[in-house]
Amino acid sequence: MVEDGRRVLSNVVSSQAALHAVYGGVVPEVAARHHLENICPVIAKAMSDAGMTYPELDAVAVTQGPGLVGALLVGVQVAKGIAFVHRKPLVPVHHIAGHLEAPSLARGAEVPLPALALVVSGGHTSLFEMAGRGEYRLLGRTRDDAAGEAFDKVAKLLGLGYPGGPVIDRLSEGADDQAHEFTIARIKDGRPDFSFSGVKTAVLYYVRREGIAPVADPAAAPKEVRDLVASFQRAVVTALLRKLEQTARTRRPRSLILTGGVAANRRLRADAARLAEDLGLPLFVPPIALSTDNAAMIGAAGQVAFEQGRRAGWDLDADPHLPLG
Ligand code: KG4
Ligand code: ZN
Repeated sequence: MVEDGRRVLSNVVSSQAALHAVYGGVVPEVAARHHLENICPVIAKAMSDAGMTYPELDAVAVTQGPGLVGALLVGVQVAKGIAFVHRKPLVPVHHIAGHLEAPSLARGAEVPLPALALVVSGGHTSLFEMAGRGEYRLLGRTRDDAAGEAFDKVAKLLGLGYPGGPVIDRLSEGADDQAHEFTIARIKDGRPDFSFSGVKTAVLYYVRREGIAPVADPAAAPKEVRDLVASFQRAVVTALLRKLEQTARTRRPRSLILTGGVAANRRLRADAARLAEDLGLPLFVPPIALSTDNAAMIGAAGQVAFEQGRRAGWDLDADPHLPLG
């Protein structure tokens, strides 16, 4: 629940991470079923945490896409139901617009525009320019795996569990990140695109060649595994920030944004802060709870869309491939 697109009144997250850990990743059908079971209790809790009643709402914002269609459909149908019954405007939101607006939820954060935003999650790795309020322009994106997906796959092949990012982040602390030199493909046609499937495959080949066994207990991971994941993490972070830096130097934004689940990565946060200082630009990184997927960020993007007059009809449909910019 978000007020004025700024103030988080409530932000209830029902995580399916423990469930997906059983399978080592997200099983779309399982995700959708659990979404269906959880959505009404989650909304009821968000309303009571915020101390709000339905008649007091100005509008209902909902993620139209992109994402897993089953989960999106559940959200869209429930939002339609609430909006219809309580006669409220229904505002469609793009998932990434949510990530891009998340920094404005930190109280007092006025993001100077144009901003250059790096969105890094399990499903996306993209660079956006926010030219004006609600104006999102896609500059570049991954051509294969998202950065978070690469973290998750490397963790899986080493037996580190799901999601992989937080474990790799933890195990990398104090490890030798120079132990391996993983190179990340450079895209040569001048677009600020990314590619992460090569580095994941390089780790896979190394693990096979050296016969590294999956770790039974991540807390007791041997040094060779910790050095391996630290070197992998360094390669990914370096590639992400290299593109951010190159693009910032050519497009000259007034601020930088780092957002999405992978923005929780401590190495990425620290190196991005250093880069921003070198560039003389303010850097906005949402607190971790607002970096990973959450409803408040959809509320913030919903406020922007609402003010710009965006409304959906009762025929609103989920769009798993909805484009932005
Ligand atoms: O934005 P998000 O919550 O969901 C998607 O839209 O994908 O991002 C989830 C992704 C997962 O791939 C997870 O491994 C990654 O974010 N992640 C991290 C960290 N925390 C979460 N990656 C690296 N370091 C972290 N500390
Ligand atoms: Zn996301």
